Amino acid sequence: MCGIVGYIGVQEASSVLVDALKKLEYRGYDSSGVAMAKSGKEGHSLVVEKAKGYIAELESKIKPSGSRAGISHTRWATHGIPNEINAHPHVDGSSSIAVVHNGIIDNHLALKEELRKKGHEFKSQTDSEVIPHLIEDEYSGNGGDLFEAVREVAKRLEGSFAIIVIHKDHPDMIVSAREKSPMVLGKGVNESFVASDVTALLKYTNNFFYMEDGEIALIKKNSIAVQTLDGEKVERDWTKVDWSVEDAEKGGFEHYMIKEIFEQPRSLHQSLSGWRSDEVNLPRDLVQTRMARIVACGTSYHAGMVGKYLFERFTGMPTMVSMASEYRFANTTKEDSLLLFITQSGETLDTIMAAREARKRGSRTVSITNVVGSTITRETDLTLYLRSGPEIGVAASKTFTSQLMMMYLLSSHMGYNMGSISREELKDVTMCLRNTIRAVAGILGDTSQVEEQAKWIKDFDNAFYLGRYINYPTALEGALKMKEISYIHCEGYPAGELKHGPLALLTEKTPVVAIVSNDHTYDKILGNIGECAARGAPVLAIVPEGDTEVMKYTDRTLTYSDPGALYSPIPISVTLQLLAYHAANLRDCSIDKPRNLAKSVTVE
Ligand code: F6R
Repeated sequence: MCGIVGYIGVQEASSVLVDALKKLEYRGYDSSGVAMAKSGKEGHSLVVEKAKGYIAELESKIKPSGSRAGISHTRWATHGIPNEINAHPHVDGSSSIAVVHNGIIDNHLALKEELRKKGHEFKSQTDSEVIPHLIEDEYSGNGGDLFEAVREVAKRLEGSFAIIVIHKDHPDMIVSAREKSPMVLGKGVNESFVASDVTALLKYTNNFFYMEDGEIALIKKNSIAVQTLDGEKVERDWTKVDWSVEDAEKGGFEHYMIKEIFEQPRSLHQSLSGWRSDEVNLPRDLVQTRMARIVACGTSYHAGMVGKYLFERFTGMPTMVSMASEYRFANTTKEDSLLLFITQSGETLDTIMAAREARKRGSRTVSITNVVGSTITRETDLTLYLRSGPEIGVAASKTFTSQLMMMYLLSSHMGYNMGSISREELKDVTMCLRNTIRAVAGILGDTSQVEEQAKWIKDFDNAFYLGRYINYPTALEGALKMKEISYIHCEGYPAGELKHGPLALLTEKTPVVAIVSNDHTYDKILGNIGECAARGAPVLAIVPEGDTEVMKYTDRTLTYSDPGALYSPIPISVTLQLLAYHAANLRDCSIDKPRNLAKSVTVE
C-alpha cells in the first residue's frame, strides 16, 4: 500500500510529483505529501507540504517553487492514524533529509529506542520516521555521502520497504532502495523518475527499469545507476511498456471503474488473442503434473475458484484453491504439484510470499498477472499475462474477467496436451470464449435493466448472493464487488448451504441475488429461489435469456445471453459489476477509492 514518486529533471517538480501521485491514489488515500529541494540566495532548503485526505487537498496547498527535484507520497495508514503529522515525507532532526516510504519496518521500535538514546526526537507515530533519523546519523558520520548513508541504513531495516530520499544539500540527486515493496525507475530526456508503479509515469516515459529486492539506485537528471546493497553494479535490460497514457485516464467516464467495466470486450479479446503466443511457450513438464493448486487473494482468489472447476473439468487433475495468506502457514513441507499464482498487480505481498514458500516446497510455479515486470514474475518459473491494460479502480473488474479467460485457456490447453480432451473439444472452448465476449458486449450494449435493479437494491442494508457449481464463485465475487464499493453488507453463498443456517437471516428486508445457469444445477437453484421467496425475501434472479421457469418464483430478473453454462461466469460477473457500480453511485460512494482499501496490498 502507499504510493511513492520521485522526480529530478527540468520541469517544475511539484506539478510532476502531484500529477504522478494522483495516478497512485488507488494505493492509499488517507493523506499525502511532497518534499522538494530548493536552492536560492539563502542557500539550499527543503519545501515540505502535507495534507490529510485526498491528493486534491495537498494540491490546493502547493505553490510552484521553481524546484526541479522532489519526492511525494500517498498514504494508506498502517502505523498511526491518518493526519498531517503521520503523513509522509518524514524528515530528520535538522529538516535536511526527507524520506517517503512504502512498506512496514518491523524493527522500528528497537531502532527508535536506539535513536532516542542518541538524542533523536520523533514527531509522528509512524514506523517510517526512523529512516530519515538513521540516515542523518550515517550521513554525518561518513562525511556527507547521501548514497552510502542510504545504503547502510537500508541494510539495517527489517520488513518491507520502498524508500525515496532527498537531501537539501544535494538537489542534483535522489536515492531509492527497495526490499519487498514495488519500485520502478523511469527515464525520459533530461529527467528521471521513480515510482511505485508504471501507471504513475506513463505520461512522461515508457522506458522502465524494475528494481529488485536488495537494490539501491542513484537517480540524477541524466543518469540512473543501480547497485545491490552489497555494492555490486546491477545491469539488467530496461523494459518498454506499451500501455498508453490514455489507458490510465478516465476517457470521459465518471469513474475508472465504469470505464474499466466497459473496456471488457476489448480486454477479453486481448487476453484471448494474446494466448496464442503464451501457448507456444507452455513448457512440456506442466502436463506431467498430477495435481494443481491455485493460490491468490480477494477477487483473484474467486477467479482461482472458477479455475478449480475448469482444471478438474478439462484436465481431470484434482485442483485445490488456497488463499495466499493461509497457504503460507499450512503444514505441507513438500508439494509435487503445479502451483498457480493469480495476482492482477503482481505485487500482493501475501501472494508473493506464498510463491516463495511454494518454491521452497519444490513445486513448479506459474503466475498469472497483468503487470509486466511486477514482482511475482520474478518469483515464479513461468508468467502468463492478462493483457487487460492498466486497471486503476480499486475494485477489480476487467482484470477479473481476463483472469477467468486465462483459466479457460490454460486448463483447456493443458487438458488437450494431457490427452484429456480432444482437438474438437479444444476448438469448441475457443468458439465458446468468442461467444462469451459477444455476450459481454450485449450486456454493455444496454445497461438500463441493471440500472433499474440498482435503484431497487441500493436501499437495503444486507443482501445474499447465491450460486451453485461454477457460479458459486461468481456469487462470491458479485457480493464482494457490492460490499466493497456500495458498503451494503453482502454475503456470497453456495445456494445449497443456505438452509444449513443462513436462512435464519432472510426477511423481506434481505434481498437475494440468485444466479441461474443452464446446467445440472438448474433445478436445484430454482428450488433454492423458491425457498427464499417462500420466506418473504425479495429475489433478483440472473437468468439465461428466454428462461420462463424462474417467473414462477420471482418477476425480478436480469438476463444474459448464454454462451454455455460453463462460460456463464464471465457475462454474469459483468452484470454483477454493473449492479454494484450503479448501486454505489446512487448511494454517492467513493467508487474508485472505497474507504479503508487500497488496490495493491503490499503489506501482510
Ligand atoms: C477486490 C480486489 C481485491 C484484489 C486482491 C488481490 O475488488 O480487487 O480483492 O483482488 O487484493 O489483488 P491482486 O490480484 O493484485 O493480487
